[in-house]
Amino acid sequence: MSYKPNRNRYEEMKYRFAGSSGLKVPELSLGLWHNFGTEADHSVATKILCSAFDHGITHFDLANNYGPAPGSAESRFGKILKEQLGSYRDELLISTKAGYTMWPGPYGDFGSRKYLLASCDQSLKRMGLEYVDIFYHHRPDPNTPLKETMGALATLVSQGKALYVGISNYHAKDAMKAKALLDEMGCPCVLNQVRYSILDRWTEEDNLLDAMDDKIGMICFSPLAQGLLTSRYLKGEVPSGSRASRNTSLQTKNITPELLEKLNNLNQIANARSQTLSEMAISWLLKDERVTSVLIGASSVAQLEENLKAIKADRPFSDEELVAIDKLTT
Ligand SMILES: NC(=O)c1ccc[n+]([C@@H]2O[C@H](COP(=O)([O-])OP(=O)(O)OC[C@H]3O[C@@H](n4cnc5c(N)ncnc54)[C@H](OP(=O)(O)O)[C@@H]3O)[C@@H](O)[C@H]2O)c1
Repeated sequence: MSYKPNRNRYEEMKYRFAGSSGLKVPELSLGLWHNFGTEADHSVATKILCSAFDHGITHFDLANNYGPAPGSAESRFGKILKEQLGSYRDELLISTKAGYTMWPGPYGDFGSRKYLLASCDQSLKRMGLEYVDIFYHHRPDPNTPLKETMGALATLVSQGKALYVGISNYHAKDAMKAKALLDEMGCPCVLNQVRYSILDRWTEEDNLLDAMDDKIGMICFSPLAQGLLTSRYLKGEVPSGSRASRNTSLQTKNITPELLEKLNNLNQIANARSQTLSEMAISWLLKDERVTSVLIGASSVAQLEENLKAIKADRPFSDEELVAIDKLTT
């Protein structure tokens, strides 16, 4: 049956400009790193994407290597676009990336012009798209001149294969060097995609938001620490089907008694604010207006809907709450 989107889909979502650009990004974006690969249930994957769009989540984030198997998340996304969402292409902000290992040999990894241009072509083919809205360099490459990598991004824009570009996992110094190079090339660099959550504060130590000074927006990935900042693990059990149960990017050995105590204390603060832990974790990131978007993952529509409540609620933090959160986590 063909999908008919919610007519009121733009009523509850809020949008923020990506840095100094004119591009609006929803406060909540959805990533396809997990739950969309070869082993995913196609009907669940379709429901998650359609439900996100129904709630004004216009931004879907991919990468060449998302799966498993690498490439399969892009293929599934392309299939769902074709089956359900394709006629809404102009309402969607689709991003992909290259930078981690994608194919064997010297040309399938890091940041050479050779890798980035070939990878973008492969991604477009898998997704059945003529262009992506944002193409990212996925991680800094210590061995390729930054000018070469940024030049490849600029080429993709001039070829019409990407409308904007982004960088990912770039620390302040390199982010600003990259931005300066892209500015010289007339190439719009709109976002730096970085890991940031209540539990992971490296961007604060790096003064990244201050350095970027709203010239590049920040989109925060793993805002729920891959599910730890939710009710999933609070009782100390690893639920079957959860990311930790698959022991891939979230390892059960890292879920220590100390971490569980911290999570339960954070959960108490959240509950006192009439929020769940995941809602509070998202609200906590969005309290800084310089954060463009919070990039979540979800394995069910129910998770997505819970997380969307953080956008609806708009609950400011008291100084006491912020101090209590910092005391537990820094
Ligand atoms: N640029 C980069 O280097 C990079 C790196 C990593 C990620 N990313 C991007 O960021 C996106 C998000 O990363 P992430 O998936 O780690 O984000 P996350 O939001 O921290 O974790 C998502 C996981 O948390 C669990 N979850 C979410 N909402 C929940 C809820 N309400 N209740 C209970 N559990 C809930 C689910 O785990 P279960 O699956 O166990 O149910 C879900 O798969 C990725 O898809 C990708 O697009 C980028």
